[in-house]
Amino acid sequence: MARTTGKSGSGGNDVSGASTIWGGRFDAGPDAIMEEINASIEFDKRLANEDIAGSTAHVRMLAKQGIVGQADADAIADGLAAVKAEIAAGDFEFKRALEDIHMNVENRLAALIGAPAGRLHTARSRNDQVATDFKLWVRGAIDALDAGVKDLQAALIERAEAEAATVMPGFTHLQGAQPVTLGHYLLAYVEMLGRDRSRLADGRRRLNECPLGVAALAGTSFPIDRHMTAEALGFDRPTANSLDTVSDRDFALEFLSTATILAVHLSRFAEEMVIWCSQQFGFAQFTDAFSTGSSIMPQKRNPDAAELVRAKVGRIAGAFQGLVIVMKGLPLTYGKDMQEDKEAVFDAADNVALAVAATAGMVRDVKFNKDRMAADASRGFATATDLADWLVRVLGMPFRNAHHVTGSLVAMAEAKGCELEGLTLDDMREVDPAITEDVYSVLGVENSVTSRTSYGGTAPDNVRAQAKDARARFLG
Ligand code: ARG
Repeated sequence: MARTTGKSGSGGNDVSGASTIWGGRFDAGPDAIMEEINASIEFDKRLANEDIAGSTAHVRMLAKQGIVGQADADAIADGLAAVKAEIAAGDFEFKRALEDIHMNVENRLAALIGAPAGRLHTARSRNDQVATDFKLWVRGAIDALDAGVKDLQAALIERAEAEAATVMPGFTHLQGAQPVTLGHYLLAYVEMLGRDRSRLADGRRRLNECPLGVAALAGTSFPIDRHMTAEALGFDRPTANSLDTVSDRDFALEFLSTATILAVHLSRFAEEMVIWCSQQFGFAQFTDAFSTGSSIMPQKRNPDAAELVRAKVGRIAGAFQGLVIVMKGLPLTYGKDMQEDKEAVFDAADNVALAVAATAGMVRDVKFNKDRMAADASRGFATATDLADWLVRVLGMPFRNAHHVTGSLVAMAEAKGCELEGLTLDDMREVDPAITEDVYSVLGVENSVTSRTSYGGTAPDNVRAQAKDARARFLG
């Protein structure tokens, strides 16, 4: 759009061009560029339902307190319902000259019901209004995200139960470390997501105090009942300090930081999928439903969804950074800076929800190549720790000595080009004559994972018990 300065468009202005909302002391309307930078309607129209819910609760309270007559209050409430219906039907004309959603709704209300509309804004300000609307929106986003993450946990738990005894290599430094079970691996993500949900619930608890009625910053002289509006809007209580209330965006920051950590978790899973789906690893493959091809290389099957989930964290962490910097150093109370809070939150909320849903889709879709995993699990002397543990348990060796003996056996196997299981008993006895045939019972990967029965360990029976426990903790 070409930007020129000059007189702005019409919409909410009187004949002189001054705003009909606050134009009493103004002789002229804003410059076009002023209007462009000032207006938030293009994005805050997403707050329409919350705005109307807040206004409806407010006017009912004003009527009950005798601040506005019942007939006017009824007309306002009915009018707000009509505005809501227009917006839902796509029949509403949002006007930039009216700046934001609050003025757009109120202006339309006045057009529909006339003079009584002017009573709605008694004992409130756009400052407490926007804080209320935005809290309601973020609360809704938290609830929706929690449901999405719960569904992802359900998908992971289901796959984990099916793969409780499937052996795969576990990694540290992305080097094969010890054999683990695939079910155990998948349940690791269930725990991470559980912490994400607990952070969401925490943030929701702190968020759930109602700003409505603190007015511009100082409270109001009208005998309002803030407890009534708080209850009507599903808040636990009204906020305690009017100055803090209009300047607080902690709830948005907490949501964004929680979304960032969640997105980090998703990116780690996505990265595993990208690695696992490579021909070099060959641990997994997506069906056509979650793969894309290449326009030039016909053989390709690319895990684009996983790559995009891996990337989404960038914009989500960016949203958090952006808002933190907006809020830094802001003096009390409200500053127009705070209007920059919404786009970041909307974009992060949309994208983290999409990433969660896409991850759940991938979890349900992915095919695991169990033979490849099992074969790989026994490569690279993966049961060396089991051997050392056997020397401790059966021969009574101190662990440090056992570590040393095992190291010599690994070196021997490496020199012979075989795995530990490939060494003969005589080979082993060259390193330590006390070793017996029984040692072979711990060198296979199946035995290795079955033996890891300590609480939280990878043994198949543990995984079954952990999956059951996870169902009770997270899906109940
Ligand atoms: N559109 C504004 C926002 O998003 C609403 C609050 C305006 N308040 C004010 N004092 N100008 O923050």
